[in-house]
Order: sequence, then structure tokens, then C-alpha cells
Amino acid sequence: MAGNVSSLGLEVPKSFIPQAGRGKGSFVDAAPRRIRDYFKRYKWAFGFGIACLIITQGFTLWVPRLLKQATDGIVDGEIDQVKQAAMGMVAAALFGALARIASRIFIFNSGRDVEHDLRHDLFAHLERQGQNFFDQMPQGQVMSRMVNDLTQVRLLLGPGLLNITNAVLVYSVVLPLLLYTDWELTLWALMPLPAIILMGRVTGGKLFTYNREAQERLGELSTRVQENLSGTMTVRAYVQEASEEKRFQEQSDKYLDVNIKLARLRGFMFPSMGLAGSLSSVIILWMGGHRIASGAMTVGGFVEFSAYLAALTWPTAALGWIISLWQRGKAAMERVNQIFTAEPNLQNGSQVSSQGEGHIELRDLSYSYPGNELPTLKGITTEIKPGETVVIVGRTGCGKSTLLKLLARLLPVQSEQMYFDGKDVNKLTLGSVRETISYAPRDAFLFSRTIAENVAFGAPESSESRVSEALEMAAFDTEVAAFPEGFNTVVGERGITLSGGQRQRTTLARAFLVERPVLILDDTLSAVDTETETEILGSLRKTQQKQTLIMATHRLACAAQADRILVLDQGELVEQGNEAELLALDGIYAQMYRRQRREQDLEDEQLRERAV
Ligand SMILES: Nc1ncnc2c1ncn2[C@@H]1O[C@H](COP(=O)(O)OP(=O)(O)OP(=O)(O)O)[C@@H](O)[C@H]1O
Ligand SMILES: [Mg+2]
Repeated sequence: MAGNVSSLGLEVPKSFIPQAGRGKGSFVDAAPRRIRDYFKRYKWAFGFGIACLIITQGFTLWVPRLLKQATDGIVDGEIDQVKQAAMGMVAAALFGALARIASRIFIFNSGRDVEHDLRHDLFAHLERQGQNFFDQMPQGQVMSRMVNDLTQVRLLLGPGLLNITNAVLVYSVVLPLLLYTDWELTLWALMPLPAIILMGRVTGGKLFTYNREAQERLGELSTRVQENLSGTMTVRAYVQEASEEKRFQEQSDKYLDVNIKLARLRGFMFPSMGLAGSLSSVIILWMGGHRIASGAMTVGGFVEFSAYLAALTWPTAALGWIISLWQRGKAAMERVNQIFTAEPNLQNGSQVSSQGEGHIELRDLSYSYPGNELPTLKGITTEIKPGETVVIVGRTGCGKSTLLKLLARLLPVQSEQMYFDGKDVNKLTLGSVRETISYAPRDAFLFSRTIAENVAFGAPESSESRVSEALEMAAFDTEVAAFPEGFNTVVGERGITLSGGQRQRTTLARAFLVERPVLILDDTLSAVDTETETEILGSLRKTQQKQTLIMATHRLACAAQADRILVLDQGELVEQGNEAELLALDGIYAQMYRRQRREQDLEDEQLRERAV
């Protein structure tokens, strides 16, 4: 049983876990393409950096020539030649260093610029995603993509790019020089190269897979930490600290395992590639020694040749590191791309709702959550006129919140099923529809800011008196005034320092303040007592005569005032009409009504008895 429960909500969806053989596909191809697009934005800075790199290498590769000159000068006793060479070396070191610094500044800074742009665009993309996206990707995974994966991309574009360019440059310049100096010795020196290339190819793929797995595991760890932080109370209340610790430990072990695999692979790769460089030196020392002895080569020529070969040592030794950076950056970019390629599933039309009155028509509206077999809403047809008060009732899980989320344009609607002011909502811009509506859900979300800032969230430029008015309408003004700092009191993370009812009334005030034609309340008054609820609804009807009010509730008492009551049952609209009509119908509503009346009577009786 416990196994079943643990595999429920908290696990990362399968689709985000790397699978064997998923190495290629449009995703992977798209990732480097996206890097290239960002790269293009900074092509001048990158280009200048690379130009500086070429200059650096020019100076560096001048040194072996000077060394030859100096050595030959020493052997021949030509002191002037030695002096000249020494001065040349000083100049090469100085200018080479300046160019090297400039190349690093330009390339590294551009890498950071790309990282910054990517992060910004990623955030903007997240802001456009609908609820369905977040139902599928846990917050920890999103966070780890925003932080860790982007860092890897930056490392690829900064140090990675610098070293890749460096390697290409050095090889393409030094190799011809070596061949020109002594082609036979060069071929001997390059003997270990095929082995290095083969090793790079074999380990490269593994590096990619391990890196991607490590990044996934880190995302899972972040998700667990984040869920435990937000669910601290629940974990304590059910005394699950030890088992949560155990689960964390298990995930942490998995992360460790894959990192150890990575470390082993890198530990094998880096030194063996370095070894190849040393092997070349040994070979040419042996072969070169013979040539000098036989008079086929001067000592200066040998020094020059060795110096060129030494220039190849670092790029060759760094090859393993470069491959690793590349594979890590590619894996990270692929994960980042999973966010970019998730199309916001809410259709954003091009028309603007002109009247903005909030006339709503539903024509055979149905909705299914992705992955659910049965539809949550089925064939709902109704019309809500501007200024109407509509109350939606029905058993828990019948689809009230789903309907309200569809109305608030938080879930996608199929075409020709919902009309706003006579236009298909899918043809209207999301912004223009949402600006007609203010929506307050039951689970109030507050930002860790002041009460006033939370209330004015939808219209930050509102005056203090507007905030006070909104709080008064939400029947929260007197309580707020009693707080030490009034409405400038900071509410703590997610409003932790407020009670449930206080949080709800803050969100309610937030919805009141924006004064939009349609007000949607999803059980927003569930945590306040009946009297406060009546007070709030009364003041709402008094001041906002023209506003359309659509609310879902479990309390039928407030349905009495409604122009129309919609009764949902298993996703279907089974009854509609005002209270008197529905009671006369003697259907589901009448049943629910009688049950609540009986409960209320019983409660009243108990209260009276206690009073006596
Ligand atoms: N994000 C989701 N993904 C999949 N199924 C969902 C999702 N949200 C809700 N459902 C399912 O849709 C159905 C209707 O849920 P909904 O929240 O609309 O009910 P409700 O009438 O508001 O219930 P309550 O009175 O308890 O608030 C339920 O069976 C629920 O399991
Ligand atoms: Mg609900």
C-alpha cells in the first residue's frame, strides 16, 4: 500500500526522465539551433573575441621561431641574434597577454549575455504557460532548468567556445608548420591522435547521457526540497520526517551514483588524453635525437619543432574537457528547450473584445483534462447576461472550478464553444478577455509583500483610498486596521501570517479593486463565516450594480439572491433557474436545499439548547 502512495503525486513524470536511446530527434537538433540563434545576437562581440584569440595565437606561435633563432645564435656564438630573439619574446609575451585578456573579456561576457537573454526569455515563456504545463512539469524541475542548466549553457558558450576555437586555431596553424618543418617527424608525433579521436567519440555519447541524467536527478532533488518546504506543516503533522528524509536520501544517492559515473568517465578521459600529448614528446625526443646525431636536423630546428608540438599539448589535453563541456551544455540546452518547445496551449487570438461588457455564451461546452479518460464537463449550454448574478452549485468534484477556470481563460477552450460579447473567445486576445474578468480562487495565493501591495496586485498604481475601499467591501478593513502596521503589514511567504479567512478576503479585495465587468468567485468565501459572507455579498450587490457575478459555492444560502442558479452534476448542467423555480422543480437542487436546511435547523436547535 505504502508503495502505491509514494508513487502518486510526488514523483517526476516519466516524460522528463531521460530514456535510453532518446539521443536523437527534433528536440536534440533544435537545442543547438536555439543556441546558435542566441549566439547570433552577439556575433560582433564573439567575433571580436575570436579575432583577439587569433592574434594571441599569432604571438604565441611566433615564440618557437624566436627560440630557434636564439638557440642557433647560442650554438653559433651570435650574441646579437640572441638579443634580438629575446626582445622579440618579451614583445610576443606582452602583446599576446593583452590580446588574450581582451579575447576572454569579449567571449566570456557574450556567454553571460546569452545566458541572461535565455533566462529572461525562458521566464517570459513560463509566464505565458497555462495551468496544464505546470500540472506536468514540477516546480523543482523548472527551477533547476532556470538555474543549473542555464549555467551549463553559459559555460559552453564562454570557456567552451574559447577552448574549441583555440583548439581549431592551434591545430590548423601548427599542423602545417610542423609538416613544413619536418613532415616525417610530424607523422611520428601524431601517431597517438587517432586513438584520442576514437576515445572522444566513444566517451562523448556516454558523457551526454550521464550529464542529462545528472541534471534530471538534480531537478528531482530540487522538486523534493521545494515540496518539503511548502509542505512543512503536513510533513510534521503526519510525522513523516524520517520517511521523507529516507526518500530524499534515496534520490540523493541516485544523484551521487550518476555523478560518480561521470567523475569516473572524466577521470579516465582527461589524463588519457593528456598522456597522448606526453607520448608524442617521448616519440619525437627519440626520433629527433637520432636525427640530430646523424646531422639531419639542427639543435635549433629541434627546439623549434618541440615548441610547436608543445603548443599542441594543451588543446589536445583539453580535448576531453571540451567534449565534456560540449556534451553537458547540449544536455542542458535540451532540457531548457523542453520549456521553450512547450507551446502555450491557450489560443491567443488577434481580435480585441470591443464592447468589454462581459456577455458570455456557452454552446455545448465540453472539457477534458489531458490524461483523463472521461470529460470533466459535458455539453454545457447557457447564456450569462451583463449584470446577472449566477451561482453554480453541485456536489464536490462535479466540475464547478473547471467551468470557472474555462470562463477566466485559464484553461483552453475548443473553438465555437464559448463566446464573449458575441465573439468566439479563441479569436480574441487572451489579454482582452482576461481584462474583462477578475477571478478569485478558493486557494488564495498571496505574495510575500504587504497587504496593500497584494490587494493592488492587478492595478499597482491604485491610491490608498481605493485599497481601503476594496478591503471594506471584502469586510476585512477593521481587522486590517488593528494590525500593527495596518495594510502595510507584510504577510509572510504566501500569506502565512494571515488566517485562511483573512487570506481569502485579501484575494477578494484584490478581485474587487480592479473593477472589471465580470467577477468570478470560486468558493472564495468558504473560509469565512456565514454572517461575513452575507455582509460581503450585500455590499457587493449594492456598489456593483452592473457587474456580472459568477460564483461557485457549497452554501445554498447565498444562492437565494441569485438571478440564476446553475446546477452541475458529473460535469453536466442538469438544472437552471432561480431558487423558487428550482425548488418547484423538486430535483437535485431541492434535495440539496432540504438537506442544508435540516442541518441548519439542527445547528440552531443545539445553539438554543446550549443557551438555555
Ligand atoms: N488539473 C487537473 N487535472 C486533471 N483532473 C483534474 C484537474 N483538476 C480537476 N480535475 C478533475 O476534474 C473534476 C472536477 O474538478 P473541479 O475542481 O472542477 O470540481 P469542483 O466542482 O470545483 O469541486 P469542489 O466542489 O470540490 O471544489 C474532478 O474529478 C477532478 O478530479
Ligand atoms: Mg472547486
